[in-house]
Amino acid sequence: MKRDLLTLDDLSVDEIEQILARAALRKKELRAGIPHPVLQGKTLGMIFKKPSSRTRVSFEVGMYQLGGYAVVLSHQDIRMGQRESVPDIGRLFSRYLHGIMVRTFAHEEAEELAQYATIPVINGLTDLTHPCQILAAIFTIQEQLGRYRGVKVAYVGDGNNVAHSWLKGASKLGIHLTIASPPQYQPRADIVKKALEVAEQSGSQIEIITDPRVAVKGADIIYTDVWASMGQEAELETRRQVFAPYQVNQDLLQAAKPETLVMHCLPAHRGEEITAEVIDGERSIVFEEAENRLHVQKAILEFLLRPEGFAA
Ligand code: CP
Ligand code: NVA
Repeated sequence: MKRDLLTLDDLSVDEIEQILARAALRKKELRAGIPHPVLQGKTLGMIFKKPSSRTRVSFEVGMYQLGGYAVVLSHQDIRMGQRESVPDIGRLFSRYLHGIMVRTFAHEEAEELAQYATIPVINGLTDLTHPCQILAAIFTIQEQLGRYRGVKVAYVGDGNNVAHSWLKGASKLGIHLTIASPPQYQPRADIVKKALEVAEQSGSQIEIITDPRVAVKGADIIYTDVWASMGQEAELETRRQVFAPYQVNQDLLQAAKPETLVMHCLPAHRGEEITAEVIDGERSIVFEEAENRLHVQKAILEFLLRPEGFAA
C-alpha cells in the first residue's frame, strides 16, 4: 500500500522519530562525503503552483544525492486542473514516476491527487498545511537543544499553514505550543480542537492566545512566518496594520529568556514580521532550519519511496 504525506496526521510518532533519525544519519554521511544512493533508478515529479526556493532545491538536490532524479513542473508547464484534470495527472504520473511532490493552493487538490495516484504524494505546502517544514523545524530543535519533547515553542503571527502544521506536530510529539495571533487571524478551530485532543495523549500544552508577550514568556523557541502568505498578497496592506504588534523584534525578545532561539520558515520580510536585527542576530537559527530541509526531505523520500522503508 502506498503512503502519502499530506499532513502530519499521516505519520505515527514512531515514524516521525525514524524520519528524524534517518535525517541525522544522512546529514552526517553527507558531511563526511559518504555517498548514499539508496533511491537509484527512482524518480520524483514536483508540481509547483506557487513559487519556491527551499522546497524545490531541497527536494531536487535531495533526489540527486539519493541517486534518483527529480522532474520539476511549473504550473505553466502542466496547468493541473485546467489543461488536464487532477485525477488524470495523478493517473498519468503514476505511470512514469515513483513519487509526486505537490505545492498548490487548495489542500483538497493535493488530497485529490493522492486519491488518484498509485504512488506516494508529498505535500510541499498547501493553503492548509506545510508538514515538511515542521518536520525540519522539529529536527532543528532537537539538534540545537538535544530534545524536542517538553520544549516550549511560541508561534507569533498569522494562524496559517505553518501554524496548522505546528499544531499537528507539537500536539503529537509532546512539544508545548502557544500561538499568539490577532483574533481574526487565529488558526482554524477544527485543527485547534483536534490538536487539543491529541495533546491529551502526548502531554503537550497547547494554547491559542492574542498577546505575543505572554506567548514568548519562558519560551525556548520563538517561531514566526510572513504576515501575508502566497496568494494573500492583495491583503498585505491591511495585514501590515493588524500584525504590527506581532513583529518579532528586540523588544519582544526581551520578554523571553536570554537563551531563547528564533526560527522562521523563510522567506522572511525584514521590517515586517521580524526585524533584521533579530533574524540576522545571534539567537537566530533560520538558516540551520533551512539547511535541514534538505536532510529531512531526503529522509521523507527514503521513507516513502523505498518499498522496504528504512528496514534495509
Ligand atoms: N520555507 C519554504 O517552504 O520555502 P520555499 O517557499 O522557498 O520553498
Ligand atoms: N505561510 C507561508 C509559508 C511559506 C513557506 C506561505 O504559505 O506563503
